[in-house]
Order: sequence, then C-alpha cells, then structure tokens
Amino acid sequence: MTLPYVTLSSAMSIDGYVDSALPPRLALSNAADFDRVDELRARNDAILVGARTVRKDDPRLLVRSESRRRARVAAGRSRLPMKVTITATGDLDPSARFFTVGDTEKLVYCPTSASPGLSRRLGSLATVIGLGDDVTMPVLLRDLGERGVRGVMVEGGSTVHTQFLSSRLADELQLVVAPFFVGDGRAPRLLGDGSFAWTADHPARLLEARPLGDVVLLRYGLSGRCTDRLPADSLWARTVHASAGNEERS
Ligand SMILES: NC(=O)c1ccc[n+]([C@@H]2O[C@H](COP(=O)([O-])OP(=O)(O)OC[C@H]3O[C@@H](n4cnc5c(N)ncnc54)[C@H](OP(=O)(O)O)[C@@H]3O)[C@@H](O)[C@H]2O)c1
Repeated sequence: MTLPYVTLSSAMSIDGYVDSALPPRLALSNAADFDRVDELRARNDAILVGARTVRKDDPRLLVRSESRRRARVAAGRSRLPMKVTITATGDLDPSARFFTVGDTEKLVYCPTSASPGLSRRLGSLATVIGLGDDVTMPVLLRDLGERGVRGVMVEGGSTVHTQFLSSRLADELQLVVAPFFVGDGRAPRLLGDGSFAWTADHPARLLEARPLGDVVLLRYGLSGRCTDRLPADSLWARTVHASAGNEERS
C-alpha cells in the first residue's frame, strides 16, 4: 500500500511563532490565504490536527467554497474531507466544532488504553481507533492509507508537525509568514526540537514563494514524491533573475 501524500500547512510570525502566548488566538492569515487553505483542503482526503489545537482553537476544518465541494462530489469524492485528530489523554470535548460541524467522517487516534472511554464519550460523533501503546505517525499514516486516504493535510500544531517531519513522512510544507513579530518565548513555535533530514548540507527544495497580500507563502518539497517545479513567474524566480542581472551590471 502507498502511504498517503502528506502536506504540512502552517502560518507563523516573522520570528517563527504560530500563536500568541495568551488568548485570544493570534490571526496570522488573511482572506487570500484562507482561500488558498480552502483550496488545499478541497484537494485532500483528510485534514489532521493535534488534540491541543482542537481544544485551543476549536477549528471547523471544513471546505467553505460551495463550488469546491461540488467539484469534489463530481469527482466521486465526499463533499468534505474527513477530519482526523490524535490524543493520548483522551481529553476531547464532544461539543467541539471538530465533532459537531460538517457532515463528514471524523477519526480520533489514541493509545488502545484510552480507546474504550473515549468511544463511550464520543458515541456516534467519531470513530475512535486505538493504535497500541503509543500512537506513532507511521502507523497512523498506514491506517489512514488502508481507509482509502491518498492525501492528508496536516494543519498543526507544533507537536504534530514536529513528529511528521522527524519521522520523514512529510512530502511538502506550505508555510505562510505573517508580517509581524511575537517576541514572547511562552508562545508556541512552528516546531519543537527534533532530528530533521533537511539541513544546510541537505536543504529542502523551495518550490514557490508567492505573496498573498501582506503574507508570503513558501512551499517546500520534502520528498521525492513532491515533483512540483518552481513556477517561472514566482517571486523567487523573479528575485534570482533580478539578482543575476544585477551581477552582470556590476
Ligand atoms: N499558525 C498555525 O498555522 C497553527 C495551526 C494549528 C495550530 N496552531 C497553534 O498551535 C498550538 C497548538 O500546538 P501544540 O503543539 O501545542 O499542540 P497540537 O500539536 O495541536 O496537539 C498536541 C496534542 O496532540 C496529541 N498528540 C500529538 N501527538 C500525539 C501522539 N503521537 N500520540 C498521542 N497523542 C498525540 C496530544 O493530545 P492530548 O494532550 O489530548 O494527549 C498532544 O498534547 C495552538 O496555540 C494553536 O493555535 C497554529
């Protein structure tokens, strides 16, 4: 079985934070970027977030555009991608929008020991899947693949992104940089510590740098499965050509 294609998606401040330290939730996106996220969600079969993001942000995780929903159905897919979360403690509120909004399948992965209690609490709201002593990303991804998921969009938070990257299971990273600083070490950062394959000697491939109003989207290819090429009209391409021209002139 081929593992699902994994796209990590996140927005961060210039200094690398994905939220503020204290409520309310920090807005790091704009309307143009929301539309990009909507399009990316529509392309995927599943959207995954960690349980702390469910608790803190209470996201809906829907495709908002009706035309994108219709296009999915016309292509023989479900109207909405399935929603997926992971928990060790089982601390998930059945009234969270993850469970109550959107007529689509919801999966909750947890250690087997947490599964009976969580199943009782969530009832028909979600399918609870115990994955042994610990939930690991390779086993989770294999299970998603066996359920027919070909593409999964991982929307954070940091703990989940860190695990996909350190397990080398991410194919692509779509990272948006918002034009401000947070400057508070108590706030969550894009990633925790980890052993990542992409280093100065072995960098990720920059596929695209696209301004979206006042934010910038950076797309990185992380695996051989990500075959995208840098679009000729991208900002990065223009910058390289411009600086090459400057060198010739100087
Ligand atoms: N800027 C953005 O694009 C963006 C996107 C999403 C989230 N965020 C921000 O990110 C922050 C949350 O990130 P976070 O790192 O604190 O939390 P997170 O990654 O959303 O969730 C972490 C939780 O997921 C569960 N989990 C993760 N890996 C697991 C595993 N292998 N086995 C079992 N359970 C596992 C655990 O849940 P339990 O605690 O239930 O055991 C863990 O506490 C929030 O501030 C949110 O606003 C930002």
